[in-house]
Amino acid sequence: MCGVVGYTGTKQASEWLLDGLQTLEYRGYDSAGIQVVSSSGNLHGVKCAGRVATLRERAHSANPVGTCGIGHTRWATHGAPTDGNAHPHLDGSGRIAVVHNGIIENYQKLKRELMAAGHTFLSDTDTEVIPHLIQEAWDGPAKGDLAAAVRNATDRLEGSWALAVICADCPGTLVVTRNGSPLVVASTPDGAYAASDVMPLASVTSHVLQLNDRDIATLTPDGAIRITDRDGRVVDHPTAIDIDWDASAAKLGGYSDFMAKEISEQPEAIERLLSGRLGKHGIELDELSLTREELASVDKVVIIACGTSYHVGLIAKAAIERWARVPVSVEYASEFNYTEEYLVTDHTMCVVITQSGETADTLTAARRMKGMGCNVFAITNVLGSTAARESDGTLYIQAGPEVAVASTKAYTAQMVGSYLLALRLALANGNMSRDEVEKHYRDLTQIPDIMREVLARRWQDKQAARLFRNQRSALFLGRNCNSTTAYEGALKLKEISYLHAEAYPAGEMKHGPIALIEGSFPVVAVVPADHVHDKTVSNIQECLARGAVVIGVATDGDERVAKLCSEVLWVPPVADELIFPAVAIIHLQLLARYVARDRGYDVDKPRNLAKSVTVE
Ligand code: M6R
Repeated sequence: MCGVVGYTGTKQASEWLLDGLQTLEYRGYDSAGIQVVSSSGNLHGVKCAGRVATLRERAHSANPVGTCGIGHTRWATHGAPTDGNAHPHLDGSGRIAVVHNGIIENYQKLKRELMAAGHTFLSDTDTEVIPHLIQEAWDGPAKGDLAAAVRNATDRLEGSWALAVICADCPGTLVVTRNGSPLVVASTPDGAYAASDVMPLASVTSHVLQLNDRDIATLTPDGAIRITDRDGRVVDHPTAIDIDWDASAAKLGGYSDFMAKEISEQPEAIERLLSGRLGKHGIELDELSLTREELASVDKVVIIACGTSYHVGLIAKAAIERWARVPVSVEYASEFNYTEEYLVTDHTMCVVITQSGETADTLTAARRMKGMGCNVFAITNVLGSTAARESDGTLYIQAGPEVAVASTKAYTAQMVGSYLLALRLALANGNMSRDEVEKHYRDLTQIPDIMREVLARRWQDKQAARLFRNQRSALFLGRNCNSTTAYEGALKLKEISYLHAEAYPAGEMKHGPIALIEGSFPVVAVVPADHVHDKTVSNIQECLARGAVVIGVATDGDERVAKLCSEVLWVPPVADELIFPAVAIIHLQLLARYVARDRGYDVDKPRNLAKSVTVE
């Protein structure tokens, strides 16, 4: 979950490397570093614990000179976030520099072998074996060919990696490769670039190339990129991705933080996703690789996801079961991967939900489902991501880059994406008529305007945030699909405000969590005007009887809830119960953000987390 960048060309490398790292900082932000090589073959590096802003200050005073270089922003796995463990790492001779995203699983064995051969190590990282292995190959079988040395070294690695490598003996040559961790490259008139994802490249090009696992790319200052496969054969037609958003989409654009920006972008994201989806065949979802007949025969859906995307899965289950009447299981990818027996039918469809498309647990699970013969459909936000490339079909939610670690706009867009799938299935298997599907689609099209209205009520969230001052814990409650709204609201709060937040289906509260409640304990109750309203109101009463302070998330005009709750986060009426989770969550996203800011935290980069969880 680190970020990797590389550049070789006509410009000084350090400025773009630093800018690129800043853009990739969402992937990890506990230390950072760059290394450049000058045309005369001098390697110059700067690295430190801390964020890219600190690195930038140090780099400006050190002024590393060179038109070819690599950079890294780290999320520590092996070794604490210290200056010494920060990347780049060098070989023993100090001629080869490497940055790495991923985990080398056999590094201890390799390190022992290298140490026995006389190599000395300076860090606690798994990565440091790589430059030493490259050095052995460079001095030995690869005979001064950097791509060959990298190929030789990576043949000895087990695990996952995206690597960028430079060498003082061939200034201007940048070699990059990947296995299981994302990496893209781009050729431009002023040189060639590499990065963990397309975001840093959006400022220099709109056309990038995707490397396949084990491909090795050699980038040269004229912008040329030569890609070879594991056996050294030239890859003629690498997968290309066109970046269809402006570089400014990944910039703050006047907002104080990305979370605020991304919360506000939800109405437009949903509009984009829904646009053009109603066609002559009902819901247009050409992204599916199943024919209508195959869709009609789907008799089980398995949804695989993690974190916020898992919560989308729970709502998707409600929609698919209600509309298409197909049974759905929702699995945490990390659990599914270690479930020994998993039963599927001949017509089970697998849906993987992953904003980044790079979550290691989710990818492993998707591969397992594919191996079991299931059609795999990905719902993701990132073009060309591994989930997209490995799935049989992919729905891109088109939410635009999501930079804040706490997922917001991807949550609602993935939810609406899964509603489209549910409607498509319902039409295919005959559980809904075209008219019914059309009516549900029209209901969905109301979501953006209701979201706008909720956003205009953000002052309610700001006011409610005051009830969390001096608190250490909170309970979130909801029923049916809004127990998921409670789970997601609690996850947002704990992620960015570091408050303990527990979420429960409201009816389960009496079986244990009620013991938590004492005077002024904050309870967030999601209580729309739905078929379980009275039941949830009773649970609010139970909380109040024990001294809780209740914050309701309710439908406009609900006098009963208004009388009971200290604050109410109001939501306009919705046409279908399944719409409420998509719009009410905005209040809970805003609430979490206000609580975190009240406490003085960086809402975009919460401690210990990273946006893309590419380790198991
Ligand atoms: O990229 P993914 O959707 O696969 O990510 C899954 C989780 O890591 C992610 O949703 C995480 O829980 C977020 N930080 C939540 O805000």
